[in-house]
Amino acid sequence: MSLQVIETKDLKAKDFISKQTAELSSACADGLAINALSGGVDSSCVTMLGHKALGNRLKTYFVENGIMREGEAERIVAIFKKLGVHVEVVDAKKNFFDALKGLTDPEEKREAITQTFYRDVFSRIVKESGAKYLLQGTIYTDVEETIAGIKRQHNILEQVGIDTQAEFGYKVVEPVIQLRKSGVREIAKILGLPEEIYNRPPFPGPALVARVIGEITPPRIETVRKATKIVEEELSSTKAFQYLAILHEDKVTGMRDGKRDYGHQIEIRCWESKDARIAFPTRLPYDILEKLADRITDGVPGVVSVTYNITRKPPSTIEAV
Ligand code: XMP
Repeated sequence: MSLQVIETKDLKAKDFISKQTAELSSACADGLAINALSGGVDSSCVTMLGHKALGNRLKTYFVENGIMREGEAERIVAIFKKLGVHVEVVDAKKNFFDALKGLTDPEEKREAITQTFYRDVFSRIVKESGAKYLLQGTIYTDVEETIAGIKRQHNILEQVGIDTQAEFGYKVVEPVIQLRKSGVREIAKILGLPEEIYNRPPFPGPALVARVIGEITPPRIETVRKATKIVEEELSSTKAFQYLAILHEDKVTGMRDGKRDYGHQIEIRCWESKDARIAFPTRLPYDILEKLADRITDGVPGVVSVTYNITRKPPSTIEAV
């Protein structure tokens, strides 16, 4: 790997911002650029760097892929409006659900998401807007995990031999690729992003698909979305690195109103970690766990079982898919 990591302890944030702004201006000197903002800290940071460097020559989009958390599009559009950045929402729900239909293998699901983003959605936006460049928030850890063969992170292209210009018709520019998550948070804060963005727990590019074991359908995504909302509400005060809900493929026998109810299982994970490379389950108090089980079985239709995962990473990974 010729790419050089900048560890957060060695990062000089202001110098990094000046250097990346200058490099973005020269890398995209002869045309328009687009970027997809998911609302995570990485893509938010790139959005701000890009607008600083390119101004009106950068157009920012939020891809409504149907697999995001509840209310995300509205929330992100409103946050960036306050920062003076217009974000256009692109409806691509059908593209994603069609591409995921019938797939159960984790790497096939990840590949379908990559292809839908890059070959279908971004190619279409590039054609319609006349852009030549796509800015994106790949970070060093994404590259490391993909190269190590652990998971194919949705946004790794050039590093696995994909020529985006030839394959998709645009060049990908990655201004924060040398940083780890903690470094990106530092830069994001200096760029003026609000704390709800720069301190936001990580969320994976394949979104809720990384948290559904087995087939992806709109109702199964809705189940995990509802459980995610409850987990985030209950666990945000723990300040853990990441907390999430996973929908299992197998159903189990439960009971409701004195009758048999063959229903879904939700698994909760809550992680302590610095950079996602190694992680430990948070020692959550039992009363929080019980409250989570009650709220999820009461509030998410069809769920009869809630478990808490106590495995470390490794051998687990943070997400399930
Ligand atoms: P895993 O599950 O590999 O996750 O232990 C490590 C960290 O990366 C996030 N993650 C992703 N982020 N694209 C991303 O941008 C992806 O495809 C992806 N997969 C996992 C995960 O949430 C965790 O913080």
